[in-house]
Amino acid sequence: MILSPSILAGDFTRLGSTIQMLNDSEADWIHLDVMDGLFVPNISFGFPVIKNISGIARKPLDAHLMIVDPDRYVAELASMGVEYVSVHYEACNHLHRSLQNIRSHGMKAGVALNPHTPASVLEYILEYADFVLVMSVNPGFGGQSFIESSLRKIAEIKAMIVSKGLSTLIQVDGGVNLKNAGALKEAGADSIVVGSAITSAEDPAAVISALKRI
Ligand code: DX5
Ligand code: ZN
Repeated sequence: MILSPSILAGDFTRLGSTIQMLNDSEADWIHLDVMDGLFVPNISFGFPVIKNISGIARKPLDAHLMIVDPDRYVAELASMGVEYVSVHYEACNHLHRSLQNIRSHGMKAGVALNPHTPASVLEYILEYADFVLVMSVNPGFGGQSFIESSLRKIAEIKAMIVSKGLSTLIQVDGGVNLKNAGALKEAGADSIVVGSAITSAEDPAAVISALKRI
């Protein structure tokens, strides 16, 4: 699976060394959790920080926008070299337009679903997305417990992708660790986002290697 470590639970006073560690690790992408204090009850970091990260990151940047009206920032993310951008189904009144906007800026477009949002909402939008991000915790914070019903949702989305003959990737985000990653792969996940299980480990690079062997 494509491993996209989240820096959210890391120590922001040492952001540079976290990015260097990820550069030197087997991680595939770097997951950036952008929060606005409106869509989710937390504020994380914004464009000045992403700009600094993009200056030193040697892995594709994967921006997860937990913000209202994300279209406002798509051009700016593209100019910083971000490659993957996911927006929330629950935050976009015109989701089709938002995905096309991301793609028109040369980036891969993802639709993120909150834990309560059913897979069925993807029926008319799946073909316009490069990936679906299944939230397996309520967005806003790192370090929460995995919500088990996410496994069934992943399997349902995988079946939709197969029946439509698409190659959309499924990314899973929230409470992912070495214990549940195997079940996620089996359910159909192509990519996992892992925050605290990596950043709180004594040897983060070793956890990354172990996750890559699943
Ligand atoms: C939650 C974020 C996640 C989070 C994952 O709102 O979208 O990316 O950082 O962290 P863990 O792996 O600790 O749940
Ligand atoms: Zn995320």
